[in-house]
Amino acid sequence: MSEHPRPLLLDVDTGVDDAVAITLASRLERHKLVALTTVAGNVPIEYSTDSTLRVVDWLGLDVPVYRGMSRPLVAPLATAREHHGYTGLGSWTPPEAHSRIERATAPEAIVQTVRANEGNIALAFVGPLTNLAVALALEPRLPEMVSKLVIMGGAFFSRGNMTDLAEFNIYVDPEAAALVARAGFDALWVGLDATRQTQLTADDWKALADADEPAEVLVREVMRRSFEEVGRSGFPLHDPLAVALVEEPEIATTRRGAVRVSLEHGSRGETRVGAVAVPDVEHGVADQVNVQRFFRLFGKVCPRLTKD
Ligand code: RIB
Ligand code: CA
Repeated sequence: MSEHPRPLLLDVDTGVDDAVAITLASRLERHKLVALTTVAGNVPIEYSTDSTLRVVDWLGLDVPVYRGMSRPLVAPLATAREHHGYTGLGSWTPPEAHSRIERATAPEAIVQTVRANEGNIALAFVGPLTNLAVALALEPRLPEMVSKLVIMGGAFFSRGNMTDLAEFNIYVDPEAAALVARAGFDALWVGLDATRQTQLTADDWKALADADEPAEVLVREVMRRSFEEVGRSGFPLHDPLAVALVEEPEIATTRRGAVRVSLEHGSRGETRVGAVAVPDVEHGVADQVNVQRFFRLFGKVCPRLTKD
């Protein structure tokens, strides 16, 4: 880890790929994972929070976990248990967590962590943006206080995965995403356009068969249901790519422009990037991924998958 790593807060809706993202986030050099905040998304909040605690204990991390919003700002909660299993960890049940959640809620923790590290704090959001929208209402100055914001969400140049137009994290809470897009952050949005380039293949998964290191065991076990029971040929590493881009932004090229989130019936959750016009703000949208460089960094989680 570098001499003065930048503090990183990671917001998750654990989630198979969220669990892998937590693992990578805990092993970075330039950033130190200082807080985990949970949100309802892939699974209901009690499951995403319990699964996050179990991952923290499994990896032996000393990172506080703060429980967040149990439902989107306006829409009813839509989950993705068909992809993530009932608890969010596929068919894996790691030991019950002995760690307990902190007293502060996730939005309060986001504000407190940013205030304690103003000008030197990275935020990564890899689930619906509900917690960030509420934190913005608590502290409207967040955009000028945060040094880096990376969001896994959107489908800017390709089809969605919840509808043809909408990606899951944005689809679940489009009102929150629209508020974040207009708030004044210079965020990097990591959409399906980029994350679909980072597939963990069935052969990669089989290469983990005899792994006994906790991180590789976690990757193998959370994906077992997808590869063995569902028979998927690949699992896109959506959330780990977002974390990787916190650490090494050069892993992907970026297009710049104003990010717009549709709230209209028929296109709810659609994300577009376009010309900036007042009062828009300019964001980055990840485009072409250097896959080999991503898997080199991912080697901190799974050394045998570096693809060099
Ligand atoms: O669309 C992919 C995103 O939705 C990922 O963050 C995954 O964990 C789910 O939350
Ligand atoms: Ca997620």
